[in-house]
Amino acid sequence: MSTLSKEQLQKISLAYDSDPWWYDIRGFCILTLSYRVSLLNQIRFFAQNISDNHLEVAIGSGSLFSLILRYQALRGRHPKHIVAFDYAESMLAGAIKKLASNPGIELCVADVSLLPFADNQFDSTAVANAIHCFADLDSALKELNRTLKPNGTMACNVLLHPRGPRPLRWIANQINRWGIKKGILVKPYAADEFLTRLRAAGFQIKTHRICGNSMNVVATRI
Ligand SMILES: C[S@@+](CC[C@H](N)C(=O)[O-])C[C@H]1O[C@@H](n2cnc3c(N)ncnc32)[C@H](O)[C@@H]1O
Repeated sequence: MSTLSKEQLQKISLAYDSDPWWYDIRGFCILTLSYRVSLLNQIRFFAQNISDNHLEVAIGSGSLFSLILRYQALRGRHPKHIVAFDYAESMLAGAIKKLASNPGIELCVADVSLLPFADNQFDSTAVANAIHCFADLDSALKELNRTLKPNGTMACNVLLHPRGPRPLRWIANQINRWGIKKGILVKPYAADEFLTRLRAAGFQIKTHRICGNSMNVVATRI
C-alpha cells in the first residue's frame, strides 16, 4: 500500500493535469526564476549518471530527459535499458510521445512511495526537479534506495529555500508560494535537512553542490 492517501494521489494527478507544452513553458520559467539554474547545468549534471540499467524517476513530460539523452548521444553514449515512470498520466503521455522512437525505454505510471520494481534492480537512478514535489519524502527515498543495487548511484536535485539578493529572493518566494497552492510543490528544503534525510534512508553522499536555489546531489546506496 502506498503511504499516500487517496486524496494526496488525486492531488498529484490534478496538479499536473495540463498540456505538456504548457507544462514545459511554465517549467522553464520556474527553472530560471525559482531554481535559478540553467537548463544546460541540469542536462550536464544528470547526463553524468545514466547507466545501462537506469531508473528515471518522475519523468514528467519527458522534455528534460529527452534533451539529456540527446546530449549523451552526441557523446556516443546510448544507454541500453531505461525504465521511467511518473504518477501523472497526462505528463507521462507527453513523455511517451517524445521518447517513442528510443528503443530500450519502458515507461509506466507509478507512485514513488510504492514502486512496482524488485529490490536491487537498477544500477543508477535520477530524480530531476521532483524530490520537493513528493508528499512523503522519506518513503520515496526508502523506495529509491530499495530498488537501487548496493553501490548504485542516485543523482538528484532539490529546491532550497530562496537565497541571494532581496528582489530575486522575493520573486522565488512568490513562485514557490504559488506552486505550493497549486499542488506542484510540497516544500523547498534546507540543504542540511535534505542531506540528513538522504543518509537516514541508507544513502552515502558522494557530492553535493549548491547552484542558485537548488542543490545537485550524487549519492550511493550503502
Ligand atoms: C516538476 S515535475 C519534474 C518532471 C521532470 N523530472 C522534469 O525535470 O521535467 C515533478 C513530477 O513529479 C511527479 N510526481 C509527484 N509526486 C509523485 C509521486 N508520488 N510519484 C510519482 N511521480 C510523482 C509529477 O507528476 C511531476 O511530473
